[in-house]
Amino acid sequence: MNDFNPSRRTFITTTAMAGFGAALASRTAWGSVRADDRIRIGLVGCGGRGTGAAAQALNADPGVVLVAMGDAFKDRLDSSLANLLKEPVKDRVDVPAERQFVGLDCVDKVLPLVDVILLCSTPGFRPEQLAKAVAAGKHIFCEKPVCVDAPGYRSVIESTRLARSKGLCLASGFCWRSASPERAIFGEILSGRLGEVVSINATYLTGPLGTRRRQEGWSDLDFQMRNWQHFNWLSGDHIVEQAVHSVDKINWGMGGRHPTRCTAIGSRFCREDIPECGDIYDNFTCTWEYENGPRAVLMTRQQPNCFNLNDDWINGTKGYAWVNGWGPTHWIKDYSGKTIWAYPKDGATPDMYQVEHNTLFKSIRDGRPINEGEFMADSCMMAIMGRMAAYSGQRLSWEDAVASNEVLRPASIDGSIPILKAPKPGDRKGTT
Ligand SMILES: NC(=O)c1ccc[n+]([C@@H]2O[C@H](COP(=O)([O-])OP(=O)(O)OC[C@H]3O[C@@H](n4cnc5c(N)ncnc54)[C@H](O)[C@@H]3O)[C@@H](O)[C@H]2O)c1
Repeated sequence: MNDFNPSRRTFITTTAMAGFGAALASRTAWGSVRADDRIRIGLVGCGGRGTGAAAQALNADPGVVLVAMGDAFKDRLDSSLANLLKEPVKDRVDVPAERQFVGLDCVDKVLPLVDVILLCSTPGFRPEQLAKAVAAGKHIFCEKPVCVDAPGYRSVIESTRLARSKGLCLASGFCWRSASPERAIFGEILSGRLGEVVSINATYLTGPLGTRRRQEGWSDLDFQMRNWQHFNWLSGDHIVEQAVHSVDKINWGMGGRHPTRCTAIGSRFCREDIPECGDIYDNFTCTWEYENGPRAVLMTRQQPNCFNLNDDWINGTKGYAWVNGWGPTHWIKDYSGKTIWAYPKDGATPDMYQVEHNTLFKSIRDGRPINEGEFMADSCMMAIMGRMAAYSGQRLSWEDAVASNEVLRPASIDGSIPILKAPKPGDRKGTT
């Protein structure tokens, strides 16, 4: 499988540019893919999620072939490739040494070789990787979060519009949007089963994430990237990196409209004086306000030895809903306490990570490009807004948060990159 069919490559690219592919749809309906109807994919960011995403992409369509991989670190690429070569789909893993790329610029080397790119590196790099993928005319799977600051958000919105105008597929890694039980209950909510949604109360309470001690020979960049979840410029803080799943469910339940304002508190109690724990907080509580009064509240923390919870209470004018983050036991009750809807005990629970790739590759085959860019960017911006409100101690409007010019990435990442101190609320302006 070293020789890729150039006519096939041209076909995918040209049809993408031209509204993408009614002809392809009629030739290659889902499930009837010929051997030469290969879709070449490339992976950027070969960590745990990237490796999983590549396997799911390979499982989604028998024509998918993994042809190129890139990572900032060689050991990560090597272990990802070794794991993929143990999968049942290993025959369609075709990544010889000359198509393995190491370094922060690996995306530039992977893109020209593929039809579809899986963007699964650390979020701090995502907006520019996404912009490059769209400029190159590639279909995209884009892990969450897609940005860590407002300039990144604006860039992702621009890429989203451009992807749509080029007929490119843009699939998001907000996996709960592909989970059957969540799709069912949010479908009920959005079709009015609760009446008007007036409040949402979400929790994302977990323990801390793992860290890596600094090793001999590591530069500041190596050290921070090996502990990327704990460095703001790489992760956006844990509200953006992890709890953004709950923020996305808030955004979903509120019908995708933008909040008007946000007030938040947060702090760092359990991460003091641990260099690997970077400059992030370990807890946030945020309130987003919506036009005409609805509010959404999120509590999130990463602290050890505490009660953990991940759920959403959604209150409407006619009833209330419970979405259980740890199992498909969601229900809706009216205000007499009577259950008016529940996810069936024997309801389907297909692997949501697989479903998101099945949907993406079907949309490519069918020539009906999905584009999930707006909600994936908006949910991330809501989380960024929460972080900004907590750090600054100020109440922020959506417009001011989105207009912020605060860039989290250090001006240079070549030499020394000092570890910043986590901000004390009230010390920073909300926007700059
Ligand atoms: N949807 C989900 O449920 C889910 C679950 C886990 C992780 N994620 C997301 O997936 C992304 C990756 O998370 P992970 O758990 O796989 O982390 P990870 O640390 O295992 O992998 C990230 C990889 O990206 C590489 N990388 C960093 N910068 C790069 C660059 N500029 N170019 C190429 N490679 C680069 C790192 O070296 C690392 O190998 C994150 O955004 C994370 O939030 C999503």
